[in-house]
Amino acid sequence: MSLLVLGIESSCDETGVALVRSDGAHPVPQLLAHVLHTQIPLHAEYGGVVPELASRDHIRRVLPLTREVLARAGHGLADLDVVAYTRGPGLAGALLVGAGVACALAAALDRPVLGVHHLEGHLLSPFLSADPPEFPFVCLLVSGGHTQLMQVDAAGDYRLLGETVDDAAGEAFDKSAQLLGLGYPGGPALARFAEFGDAEAYDLPRPLLHSGDLNFSFAGLKTAVLTQVRKLGLERLPCEQPRADLAACTQAAIVEVLVKKSLQALHTTGSKRLVVAGGVSANALLRAELAAACKELGVRVHYPELGLCTDNGAMIALAAAMRISAGVEHATRDYAFDVRPRWPMADLLRPAQAAAPA
Ligand code: KG4
Ligand code: ZN
Repeated sequence: MSLLVLGIESSCDETGVALVRSDGAHPVPQLLAHVLHTQIPLHAEYGGVVPELASRDHIRRVLPLTREVLARAGHGLADLDVVAYTRGPGLAGALLVGAGVACALAAALDRPVLGVHHLEGHLLSPFLSADPPEFPFVCLLVSGGHTQLMQVDAAGDYRLLGETVDDAAGEAFDKSAQLLGLGYPGGPALARFAEFGDAEAYDLPRPLLHSGDLNFSFAGLKTAVLTQVRKLGLERLPCEQPRADLAACTQAAIVEVLVKKSLQALHTTGSKRLVVAGGVSANALLRAELAAACKELGVRVHYPELGLCTDNGAMIALAAAMRISAGVEHATRDYAFDVRPRWPMADLLRPAQAAAPA
């Protein structure tokens, strides 16, 4: 069965629209086109995302982007089989824009809609890469709001192995970057600065590194960075080298914990395949360290294409297509949409786990 799926992502500060096709001939849906508008310049002067500005900009962008993606793929609205959108988690107002447009479009076309969990989009996004994974695998999901290790056996079949007990890895990058005066978004800025620093200049903590489980904790790291910033007077002085050194140390601490816990998860599950997804999967040091460690263990590592690590519409269209093809979920003609700004990932887990408290 051939299925043409339009995906709309608007959960935070990127408007993404994409078109994927799934059919019997290809095991993985094909990305036909995707377009993205980033709001980074809009929010940069505030040092972070301003929700109301985000919603307004999504409204401005989503229809022109939809027209553009259809034109690029050589399709018209009438060709669409399903309209998918990010239902959550994310900013309520921003999510409502994508959901509202998706449902209005689908209702006008008499096509079904499907609301997708943003993190499932990230998790499956490496299937659109030139080197797609095969099920089953261990997934390290590292985004701005989430850090999780999961056993993934099929589309829609996920088991939680461990997660952060406080801040997410991306949040650790962002908050440390802010303390270092490196602006927003913090992850890429900190990584760029770290290139000129000595990763052994300061001693930063690796919380829960030897906890014996697969959980993470990054809140203490932020406090340690703040202590160093104050000690060095970086909030007052333009000391570029200590700033770069501290950036390098912060990045090294986050990456070391992510790598060690991923290896532990591979060891525990006996898996020989690792998938890394979410915004932090773009980090070059993380990729290099995982490549070195996994080569030694004979483990294959898969990532999203660099342009699809952070938020995009392709992963939303893909997740919808994969859920529908795998029979996990059906798109619906019930257009009375709601959004779930705090949609727990636990809702997507195997029933035995989903019943446990998050
Ligand atoms: O997945 P994502 O786009 O948004 C969420 O769903 O949260 O992830 C954004 C996060 C931000 O915290 C950003 O700083 C981080 O990914 N990030 C990076 C890099 N690129 C994006 N962190 C470290 N190194 C990078 N190159
Ligand atoms: Zn995201």
